[in-house]
Amino acid sequence: MPAELKTVTVIGAGGKMGMRISANFQNSQYQVFYCENSPQAREKVAAEGREISDPESVVPLSDVVILAVPDIVLGKVSQAVVPQMKTGAILLTLDPAAAYANLIALRDGIEYAVAHPCHPSVFLQRYTKEEHDDAFGGVAAIQHVAASWESGSDAQRSELAKVINCMYGPVEQVHWVTVKQLAYLEPTLVETVACMVGAFMKESLDETVKHCGVPEEAAKAMLYGHIQIALAVAFRATNPFSDACMIAMEYGREKIIKPDWKVIFEEKELDTVIARMLKIDKINR
Ligand SMILES: NC(=O)c1ccc[n+]([C@@H]2O[C@H](COP(=O)([O-])OP(=O)(O)OC[C@H]3O[C@@H](n4cnc5c(N)ncnc54)[C@H](O)[C@@H]3O)[C@@H](O)[C@H]2O)c1
Repeated sequence: MPAELKTVTVIGAGGKMGMRISANFQNSQYQVFYCENSPQAREKVAAEGREISDPESVVPLSDVVILAVPDIVLGKVSQAVVPQMKTGAILLTLDPAAAYANLIALRDGIEYAVAHPCHPSVFLQRYTKEEHDDAFGGVAAIQHVAASWESGSDAQRSELAKVINCMYGPVEQVHWVTVKQLAYLEPTLVETVACMVGAFMKESLDETVKHCGVPEEAAKAMLYGHIQIALAVAFRATNPFSDACMIAMEYGREKIIKPDWKVIFEEKELDTVIARMLKIDKINR
């Protein structure tokens, strides 16, 4: 890898993540090339004043090639891109699933890293309207990033962290973990559990209104406030749950959660969920 990373290519620049990270790169110190193959997405890139490049011309020039394409095509796209990369360049993906499943094309002399945004914390102190409005991160609200570069040295990682800080900024900290640990963070911790619980709470809200006839505004007011206090008590121990609340919580656990739910942290289950997400039969080792 070059001592200083200067040139970046974003492949899939017109997608959801491609547009976000490109907006942050646009006025940065990096020389950035934008590649996109869908005509509609190309229009979105051009509308932001970013010129579309041909990957064959720009990938060989790039110190970092970011694949912001859907995970299910990362294998195919990496097979096309990796042979064109210069020796020592870094292939950066934005989710650990394909790397964990060994779908990314490998080549000696190419470095492989993954960087996933944590999104701004629910406990973040937000001061401005822009910070309040930035639920996803990458605009105004500061967030952390979880990243993996197993063969990188500390110095190399801190050089790549500058690119990560730029693309996902404002960033408080980059946490370096292994690809497998990153996969336990996402999907297991944050999608299998946290996003599922979020969607489950919305379903419970709808059921309270539909089944019990509670006015929707009353149900929303009660739930939104209690989501806040439940998180504050569970994660920050601001005050204890009341004795009656703990009895109701225990009843909920008995009715809703399977006793063996922690199997989701076993490797076999991680393989199952990632294979399902990538629409493949099984993880190749
Ligand atoms: N969407 C999110 O909230 C989110 C969050 C974190 C990480 N990620 C990760 O970011 C990556 C991209 O996801 P997304 O949601 O932005 O996908 P997306 O479907 O919104 O965008 C993908 C873009 O890639 C383009 N593309 C596909 N193949 C291409 C090719 N060969 N050359 C050039 N462009 C090509 C598509 O036309 C599309 O514009 C995935 O790895 C995903 O897991 C997504």
